[in-house]
Amino acid sequence: MKNIVKVICIGHDYKYEVRELLKMFFVPNTTEVVFISSKGHNNCDNKIISGEILLITELRVENGRAIAISGIDEERQITEVELNSSDKNEIKRLTKRIVKKSLFKLLKRLTDTKVPWGILTGIRPAKIVHDLLERNFSEEEILSILINEYYIDNDKAMLLLNIAKTGHRFIYPIDETKVSLYIGIPFCPTRCLYCSFPSNSLKQSAHLIDSYIDALCREIRSMAKLIRETGKKIQTIYIGGGTPTTLSVSQLARIFDTIKYTIDLNHLEEFTVEAGRPDTINYKNLMFLKKENVTRLSINPQTMSNLTLKVIGRGHTAEELIESYRMAAGIGFKNINMDIIIGLPGEDGGAVKYTMEQLQKLSPANLTVHTLAIKRASRLREMKGNYSLPNQQEITAMLKITQNYAESMGLRPYYMYRQKHMVGNLENIGYTKPGYECIYNIQIMEEKQTIIALGVGAVSKFTFPNENRLERVPNVKNLEDYIERIDEMIDRKAKFMSNLTSRPLIS
Ligand SMILES: C[S@@+](CC[C@H](N)C(=O)[O-])C[C@H]1O[C@@H](n2cnc3c(N)ncnc32)[C@H](O)[C@@H]1O
Ligand code: SF4
Repeated sequence: MKNIVKVICIGHDYKYEVRELLKMFFVPNTTEVVFISSKGHNNCDNKIISGEILLITELRVENGRAIAISGIDEERQITEVELNSSDKNEIKRLTKRIVKKSLFKLLKRLTDTKVPWGILTGIRPAKIVHDLLERNFSEEEILSILINEYYIDNDKAMLLLNIAKTGHRFIYPIDETKVSLYIGIPFCPTRCLYCSFPSNSLKQSAHLIDSYIDALCREIRSMAKLIRETGKKIQTIYIGGGTPTTLSVSQLARIFDTIKYTIDLNHLEEFTVEAGRPDTINYKNLMFLKKENVTRLSINPQTMSNLTLKVIGRGHTAEELIESYRMAAGIGFKNINMDIIIGLPGEDGGAVKYTMEQLQKLSPANLTVHTLAIKRASRLREMKGNYSLPNQQEITAMLKITQNYAESMGLRPYYMYRQKHMVGNLENIGYTKPGYECIYNIQIMEEKQTIIALGVGAVSKFTFPNENRLERVPNVKNLEDYIERIDEMIDRKAKFMSNLTSRPLIS
């Protein structure tokens, strides 16, 4: 049976923020959060029975001050702020923050849960630091804000500052003429246990590949025309998925030909292909990618334990991973990224140490350390009860192991993000050798550059820096729908493309 937290909001309607913060303290699978009305919470429907918690969060705004009070039983926590601005958005931001702060202090007092990211519930924590850096706050001031205003742990605050400092020089000054291109290939040999990405196993969807490429090439051609007309320059291309190398070389060639014959690639600074699974990588497709001037590859172990690889349904061994990596390096790929996941079923610190030792021997230019997220659309979510998963403390210790190895491999953190449903509410960190930072990853996380995203499930982000505005334009997620409704996908994006200014804006 689930525990129930009943919440009454008075004077505000920040239910989303309250719910997200509560998730940090109460495990969502075992606790249900129910918002109830402040009026007559003593009536039958809203009655609090034993075992339930009644939480009251109140916001009062009076005489230019906002006061947030959070209470459970006799315990109260209060946070106040001066409202010096008349800007509605600023007032909302400040009042939201104090509601979260008072709630955080209350929950921290009543539970012994570790919440390393404090009241930061968003998935892109570095954005706050970029904003402060742009407003010329000193490093000391930024650290103090992160620790005292957002209640972030000291080491996470330091990590965030270092990451933002590295990313900053790739993002600023913002050049509106530059955009990036994402192309999604939603096919994989089989579906991994934890995956929720747009990926269709070959067994079920091989017959749709050619129609998919037809639709995708049509989308590329249409966007290429708009890119030319608006005078945009492509800074980076990222072909991801799924696993692009699931396609044959002739299928890949149709996509690459369409790109290079329709788009001016003279300004391209980086071209990534997520080869991903070693069971799709061979000499022929690697040579093809090299010839097509791909500059960065992902070859992803996830773990170097053959036992775990079997459990998560990867369809390749650690030995095959090493072979693919060596083949790619031998062909001349200098920037190879490797993804690993911490918290995979049955893995402990020893397993992570073993994985890192193996990767240290390969010495990739990039390493991305993910923390397992139990995503809604994954098989893992349905079968969670069958697996033993680590707790937050164990995940923290395993992340520390990866951090230490990364350091000794000459890698430093350069981008990070968080996801919903992550085990232990921690983070994903991208590490790099100096000079090998993936510009696309930095841009996608900080959301200051327009990313035109093509293919099934791809979400374009059109940025309007003058207005500090971002519009997301998603493509449909279903393969057949995408093929059928391709003109609609193109039209949706065309509307936003025509609004993008081609005038360079340096800010
Ligand atoms: C777009 S995905 C897939 C790339 C490629 N198809 C592969 O699997 O190697 C990029 C990365 O996200 C990570 N990832 C995917 N699902 C995850 C999950 N549920 N929890 C944590 N990390 C995940 C994996 O490390 C994966 O390599
Ligand atoms: S190979 Fe990658 S995209 Fe494909 S199913 Fe596995 S995790 Fe998902």
